[in-house]
Formats: sequence, C-alpha cells, structure tokens
Amino acid sequence: MTYEFLWFEGLPFPFVGHTIEGLKEACTKYVIKDEDTVMVSYPKSGTHWLIEILCLIHSKGDTKWIHSVPSWKRSPWLETGQSCKFLTESERPRLLTSHLPFHLFPKSLFTSKAKVLYLMRNPKDVLVSGYYFWTTSNLTKKPESLERYFKCFIQGNVPYGSWFEHIRGWMSMRHRENVLLLSYEELQKDPRSTMEKISQFLGKKLNPEELDSVLKNSSFHVMKQNKMSNLETMPESLTSLHFSIARKGKCSGFRMHEIT
Ligand code: A3P
Repeated sequence: MTYEFLWFEGLPFPFVGHTIEGLKEACTKYVIKDEDTVMVSYPKSGTHWLIEILCLIHSKGDTKWIHSVPSWKRSPWLETGQSCKFLTESERPRLLTSHLPFHLFPKSLFTSKAKVLYLMRNPKDVLVSGYYFWTTSNLTKKPESLERYFKCFIQGNVPYGSWFEHIRGWMSMRHRENVLLLSYEELQKDPRSTMEKISQFLGKKLNPEELDSVLKNSSFHVMKQNKMSNLETMPESLTSLHFSIARKGKCSGFRMHEIT
C-alpha cells in the first residue's frame, strides 16, 4: 500500500496519524496552559530521546513511568487527533510534544508561561535519519532514493515541510525566558550537564543519584531495549523489519553517505 502526504496549509504531513480536522483543531483551538511543558522539534532531531529525558526528570529518575506507559501517551503529540483528545483528558502539569512549525502552532502558547524546549540537530544528520525512517515505515510517502530525498528536503517537500523554515520560525522565540534551545549535538557531547540544565530550566532539582538514573535510562542502548520508548508497540503494518526509532544515535553519521 502506498501512503502519500496529507496536505494542510500548504505543508506535507504524514498520512498516518493525522487528519485535516485534527490538524485544524490543534492549530486553531488548542489551549496551552501556563503549567505545560512543550517540546518542539523538526522530525528526526532526537525528539524521542528528549521525551525520555523529560519523563525521567519529571519522575526524578524513577523508571516506573517510562517502563509502563508508551512515550506517545506520556508526552502526546499535539497535532495528532487521537493525542489531542488524550491531552484534553490528561492531568496537569502536562508534557506535550510537537513537530509543528512556528507559524502553525496554537497561538495560546505565545501568551502562556508554558516552558518550551526547542531541539535542533545538524540538518545533514536529520536528512539521513529521515531518509531511513520514512523508507522503513509505512507512515507516509517513501523516498525513492537518498538523492531524490535530498532534493525534496531542500525544497521542503518532506513531512512537516522545510527544516530551514522550522528553525527560522522557532528561533524567533529564543530570547524568551520560558524558551530553552537545545541541540542533539550538545546532548551527545555532554549529556549530564545538558540534563542538569534542562532540570534547572524546569525547576526540578535532582540529586546526583536521580541524575545518574536519568542519564543511564535515557541512554541510546537502554532506550533501544525499552518497548515503551522504541516504538515497538506500533502496528506491524506500519513498520518493516529494519524499522527502529533508535537507529544509529550518533553525530555526523551523514559522513557515511554520499549524495551524487
Ligand atoms: P539516527 O537515525 O541518526 O540514528 P526523532 O526521535 O526525532 O525521530 O529522532 C530520531 C533520531 O534520534 C535517530 O537518529 C535516533 O537514533 C536518535 N536517538 C533516539 N534515541 C536516542 C538516544 N537515547 N541517544 C542518542 N540518539 C538517540
């Protein structure tokens, strides 16, 4: 079966998990509350890693939550209809995740005191990661080749549109007190200090043992084994043998690929 894109406001979205009504509802009606924590990223920037870190910080290193509840339920995706329903019902304070570009994000965010974490990654790694992710899943149109995907990526003709516009839009929020900019690369380079910075930003004081647990349980190898975090619970029809949200988990992996 071939899944194409779902077009909304001129942007291509994955066909699976999104509807026009759900996107419309999320973008125009959703109310972000002061006590919410919102995680935003362009796809393949390390979103699931950050979800795991935030959940572990939230539970002060206790692993019960990350071992019993799937990540999409712990920190639902704002733009998927099903999650939006779940968010309305969920208790506060809430963790929310989104890949929405700045201009489509619900306007209630901009007048709220919600804490926003924006995660960035080297676009060359985002590109390669995206190529494998969309190729090995049945969530939307599959790239024909890495070369073709590269051209589409540059034009913004890939799920969630242009990486460049996404970064440009969200960077305009960088001076706000309630916004923390993070990069995949700094998380890789110094995970402990970066996790400490995140917990301080969230006003969650962790003792050294609690921080050790966040570090250990959000590590690539531990996360890869956690069924609640590695998307293993996704229906088989949407994945393939080689599908994994935790693929390589490295910086500069793009160097292994040549685009002619
Ligand atoms: P690669 O495909 O380069 O390996 P997202 O969650 O936004 O879809 O991003 C997925 C990318 O984050 C994948 O990159 C994946 O391997 C990486 N990733 C996931 N968990 C990670 C972890 N605990 N540590 C480092 N990288 C991780």
